[in-house]
This record gives sequence, structure tokens and C-alpha cells, in this order.
Amino acid sequence: MTTNQKLWGGRFEASLEDWVEEFGASIRFDQKLAKYDILGSIAHVTMLGTTGILPADEVEQIKGGLKSLLAKHDQGQLVFDVSNEDIHMNIESLLTAEIGPVAGKLHTARSRNDQVATDMHLYLKDKLSEVLEKLGRLQEVLVSVAEDHVETIMPGYTHLQHAQPISFGHHLMAYYSMFKRDSERFAFNQKHADLSPLGAAALAGTTFPIDRQETSDLMGFESLYRNSLDAVSDRDFILEFLSNGSLLMMHMSRLCEEIISWCSHEYQFVTLSDTFSTGSSIMPQKKNPDMAELIRGKTGRVYGNLFGLLTVMKSLPLAYNKDLQEDKEGMFDTAETITVAIDILAGMLSSMTVNTAKMAKSTEQDFSNATELADYLADKGLPFRQAHEIVGKLVLECSKAGHFLQDVSLEDYQAISPLIEQDIYDVLASKTAVQRRQSIGGTGFDQVRWQISLAKEDLAQGVKQ
Ligand code: ARG
Repeated sequence: MTTNQKLWGGRFEASLEDWVEEFGASIRFDQKLAKYDILGSIAHVTMLGTTGILPADEVEQIKGGLKSLLAKHDQGQLVFDVSNEDIHMNIESLLTAEIGPVAGKLHTARSRNDQVATDMHLYLKDKLSEVLEKLGRLQEVLVSVAEDHVETIMPGYTHLQHAQPISFGHHLMAYYSMFKRDSERFAFNQKHADLSPLGAAALAGTTFPIDRQETSDLMGFESLYRNSLDAVSDRDFILEFLSNGSLLMMHMSRLCEEIISWCSHEYQFVTLSDTFSTGSSIMPQKKNPDMAELIRGKTGRVYGNLFGLLTVMKSLPLAYNKDLQEDKEGMFDTAETITVAIDILAGMLSSMTVNTAKMAKSTEQDFSNATELADYLADKGLPFRQAHEIVGKLVLECSKAGHFLQDVSLEDYQAISPLIEQDIYDVLASKTAVQRRQSIGGTGFDQVRWQISLAKEDLAQGVKQ
């Protein structure tokens, strides 16, 4: 009888102290993998039966036990114990309690190293589908709000200064394009998540006549790892997820930052619905865009998860090292953060009120039509540099006088250049300025409608996973 009761206790004469055991254990967080661990074990034991490694009756007993654990898990009835270290040994110990010592045969031709990698792949495959579905919905919301606001005029900014008027729909469609690229990246991520590591065993494969293709097929994997060392030590699929999640959060954070500004008293471009806003405990008038701020804030932890794992991986020799246990919390956290953040953002966008008059008005008391005047002169043959100079001077004069380009009389315009005629006032109107930008991908209404129609085609097709 060994003095160490662990599943691996045979060669030990003493046990870990509780606090040391606690440090090494992952059950507190890897219990999220329970379902995948059981499903992977069902595939493994099925294969041990078909290959004749285990007799049919034992396979049935083990499978029956695993299925009963799965049912208990679905009802939230599995109780884990830190002394069993991780999810794999907890499940094995629960299986032993369920069916007796035959449970010990399940681990034939397998190691926790290929087992944990398998669980992580199965988990991420599911999460990627969920993320893609949610991202599709967010893109639909953007397209639908953009469609309602093709002709809503807002100031377009560079350096956060009014630059040229644009369509609010166009502005939103820029975010659509970012989220489309995010979807494509997550879809590509599936290719590397959809590989079965099972059968790599500890690191070198096994002498048992296992059938890796069978377990891979049973678990629904597209393909399998070709190298057993790579299979147990690869975490690229997780790093890709953390990196794709970081880019997605960065995009969401940029949009949230704009929403936060847009609801400020200075802008008043949008009003968030009460269902996505909070109040202040001291200032009764406050309505704060907390959810947008939180998405912006949570971007930090998602970046942190990426850097955490990149750093864990950077000096790891092949093959499995316990450091790899640190791959989990960041992955779960990123998965949970991005899925809820996507939903919050979609809800916030679809329920906000766009103050169209306020947006349009802010392009009427500024110089964001200065390019129109310069282009007008260039169109009439004046070299653009000269036109730029003339308009620049006029802007300076107007700002000193406290009025705008549209307030300059035709007489004064003609004194500046005889090329300027009555039609200049129409050209200077923000709506005309937007409408006329018909270069491909420009903010012209027809161009925005074109983007929207392509987006709808994309969304109807869905991203190929
Ligand atoms: N809990 C471990 C992890 O998450 C499982 C694999 C342990 N393997 C081992 N040889 N210690 O990485």
C-alpha cells in the first residue's frame, strides 16, 4: 500500500501538503472542461473497444459510467475535489465511484497530456462557433442601423477636428468592415482548433494499436495532429483566439469610445436607452454610458490574457510542461468577456436613439465644407494648391469675423474669384458634400447603400467555418 493516495501515487513515499497541493491544482477553473473531458473519454473508450484493446463488456461498463456522469454533470450534480488535482483525475475518480476498479482501464493508451489538449480543442471549437454566431448578429445590427441612417449627416473627424461631413451610416459601416475581418479571423481559427491531439499520449504516441482517426471522427474533428510532440505542446490555437479576441475588443472599444463621446453633453449625437445606462448615487441628473465604458475597460484584461500566454509559451521546451496549465484561465476569461461584450454592444446599438438633427446641425456651423470650395475652384481649372491657399485665407477671415463659408455673399466670393457662381451655396451644403462623394467606398449615399447591400449578401452567406 502506497503512502500517497493520488492516481499517480505509486512511486511516492510522502504526500503533498495541502497548501502545496492547492497550488498545483487546476480543478477550481478547469472544471469548465468537464463535459468535454467526458465526451473525449467516451470517444477514447469506444475506440479501445473497436481496436480490441479492451473487451466489449468492459467498454460498455465504462461508457455507461461516463454517460451517467455526463447526465449528472448536466444537472449540476458532479462534485469535484481539490485533492484530485484537475478535471481529468476528478472525472476518473468519480467514474471509479460509479463503476468500480474497471474505471482504471479508461486511461489505457492515453495521458493527461493529450487529454487536456483534446479538452481545450473541444471547448474552443464550441466557443468559436458561439463567437461567430454572436458576431454575425452584431454585424446585422450595425447594417440595420446603418440602413436607417444612410442620409443622416454627421461631422467626419480627423485629429478629432471636424474634417468633412459624412453619412452616419457610412461611419457605422466602417465598424461593420472591422467586425467582418474579426469574423474571418475567428473562422480561420477554427482550422487550428479543429485538430485532434488524442492518441499522442504523453508525448511519443503509444505501443497500443489505437485508432486515432476513429477518436478524431467520433469527437467530430476535421483532422488530426501529425506529430505527437506538437499535439501535446501546441497552444497556438488558443493564442490565435486570444489575439483575435484582442483585435475584436480593440474594435469594440473604439466604437464604445465614440458612443461615450456621442452621449456627452458636448456632442448629444445619440441617447442610450435606459436599459443600457446607469445613474449616479449622488448626482440625480446623471445617465452614464457604463456598459460602453466597461467594454472599453475590459479590453485591457483581454490584451493581458494574450500577453500572459505568449509569455508562458516563449521559453517552453517540448513537450508537456506544467506551465501549460496556465493556458486555461485566460482563455475562459477571454471567451466569456468577448461573448458578453458582443451582446451588450449589439443591444446598446439597436436600442439607442440617434439625434439626427443635432448631428446634422453640427456640420452647419463649422468649416467642414472648406474642401468643397477648394474642389469647386479646382474643378473650374484653378490648380488645387492655389485653391487651397485661397480657401485657407478665407477661412481665417471668416473665423475672425465669426461666420462661416456659407455666410459669405456672392459679391464677396466673386471678388475672391470670378470662377465662383451662385451654385456655390448648394455645393457648400453638407448634404450635397456627402451625396457627391461617389468614389468607390466613399460616403456618398449610393456608395453607402452599395456597401450595405454587399454586407447583406455576406451575412446571408455566413462566414465559412
Ligand atoms: N491539469 C493539467 C493541465 O491543465 C493537465 C495535464 C497534466 N499533465 C501532467 N503530466 N501533469 O495542464
